[in-house]
Amino acid sequence: MNASPTHNSAQRTLAQVVEYYDTHPINEDQIRAAVQASGIPWESLTAEMLQRHDQDHFGGLEANDLLIAGAGIRQTDHVLDVCSGLGGPARYLARRVGCRVTGLDLTASRHESAQRLTAAVGLDDRVTFHLGSALEMPFPDATFDVVMGQEAWCHVPDKPRLIAECARVVKPGGVIAFTDILRRETLSDADQARLAIEMTFPTLESLDGYRDLLEANDCVVEHRDDLSALWTRILVDRLAMYRGLGDHTERKFGSGRKAGWDQAYSFFVGLYQAGRLGGGRFVARRRTPQT
Ligand SMILES: C[S@@+](CC[C@H](N)C(=O)[O-])C[C@H]1O[C@@H](n2cnc3c(N)ncnc32)[C@H](O)[C@@H]1O
Repeated sequence: MNASPTHNSAQRTLAQVVEYYDTHPINEDQIRAAVQASGIPWESLTAEMLQRHDQDHFGGLEANDLLIAGAGIRQTDHVLDVCSGLGGPARYLARRVGCRVTGLDLTASRHESAQRLTAAVGLDDRVTFHLGSALEMPFPDATFDVVMGQEAWCHVPDKPRLIAECARVVKPGGVIAFTDILRRETLSDADQARLAIEMTFPTLESLDGYRDLLEANDCVVEHRDDLSALWTRILVDRLAMYRGLGDHTERKFGSGRKAGWDQAYSFFVGLYQAGRLGGGRFVARRRTPQT
């Protein structure tokens, strides 16, 4: 068994991520409450109705569409969503494109909610979920046509290994398409330490850093979009959205979590407003023996 200091620190990060998502303001109960508030009985819920409430990334359904278009995802594709959370993007893809989607997530509570929500809208024939780590993906080499992720890889401690795993499981000629939270400059030790503790971002990659990692793993970067200005605007609204969920968060997880979340998220949004954090969308293709 690997018990090096680096391995132990990565394991600690993974455990912190699970705790963070076990007490996240966006969760299955909160989605059920939002569906109920919209007047739809759970028994007659459809995937189209659910998708208004189940996306846990910046930019919602439009961001999914941009990733689908950028990656050129087709009905015949088998897509892997790495860090699939509650499964919102996976269900959206399966419904909109008709493709098969596999989700991979580390947090058991997220994994179980994703399975329940998917079964509730009858998409479990096309969308399946695995519990596991993005750093040790439980899939053979060259399994998927597309590997995607939305603004979740910020939580993964070892980015070189993460990208190597994505490149391993995608087929030659297949696509890796993702968005992520990025650093725009070298962060101070104090800011990085707060992000690690309060947001569970152990390290953040940069726009150039992800390009270099993709190229080092035999991928050609086809698109690389800087989303920093857009996400700074979105995040101001998102902070207000979380404040709107404050009562729900307090009832479910206590007043300490509500206050702690607000403090952490305000700090995070402040780093965007100061131009220190940003975002990016990447589309890269794994080389074939001919390219
Ligand atoms: C922001 S949520 C993702 C939401 C999803 N992409 C969406 O758009 O709805 C981040 C997810 O990443 C998962 N995660 C974090 N680190 C992970 C890792 N090393 N391996 C697998 N999943 C991980 C968390 O459990 C969490 O469910």
